Amino acid sequence: MNYIEDRKHALEILEWGAKENPGPWVNHSINVASATEYILKELNNKGHNLNVDLGYNAALVHDIGRYKGFTKSVIHSYDGYNYMSNLGFSGNANICVTHSFPQGNKNIEIAAEWSLVPDYMKHKLVEVLNNNQHYDLYNKVITLCDALADSEGFTTLEKRLVSVGLRHGTTTYTSQHWGGYYLIKEEIESLIDQSIYTLLPNVEDSIYTSIY
Ligand SMILES: [Fe+2]
Repeated sequence: MNYIEDRKHALEILEWGAKENPGPWVNHSINVASATEYILKELNNKGHNLNVDLGYNAALVHDIGRYKGFTKSVIHSYDGYNYMSNLGFSGNANICVTHSFPQGNKNIEIAAEWSLVPDYMKHKLVEVLNNNQHYDLYNKVITLCDALADSEGFTTLEKRLVSVGLRHGTTTYTSQHWGGYYLIKEEIESLIDQSIYTLLPNVEDSIYTSIY
């Protein structure tokens, strides 16, 4: 699988997307990349051998499908997959999809606004998930960090998930979707032997800001 290794290249792709469709998703992407970097570095401190640049870049472009415009559903994952695939970065393309499915190919219908996704997109997304059944640490850390950073900075999982729920609504599947993030959080925390929040500078500031 091919991943972007050059940070300048990843930033150029994000800047292109920002011009196509400016919005809070751009700063969110930068903050997810920063959180990913902190956590990958700590995993390396604990004996893993992860490529921090690879993870940072993959997080930076995880929402690149937003270049097409705003959508509540996982259509941005489909658009991002196609965009990164066409650039030849198959690994980045996969993460554009996997970050929206914290439980992988299990309970796919729990994804946000799944019912709004056209059938041909659903088939492609399911195919990608079936081909990526075992999330590696890059996938897991980026999926988790997607829920630990908004456009302002770092935040708690609880605030981020409730914020998305308040803005986009919830379904009968929401608790399962949230549970997927907590499973990843517990796995990562057991690997680094500490709370992820100890790695995110000023995360506590997020309790004082608006949830919307
Ligand atoms: Fe995101």
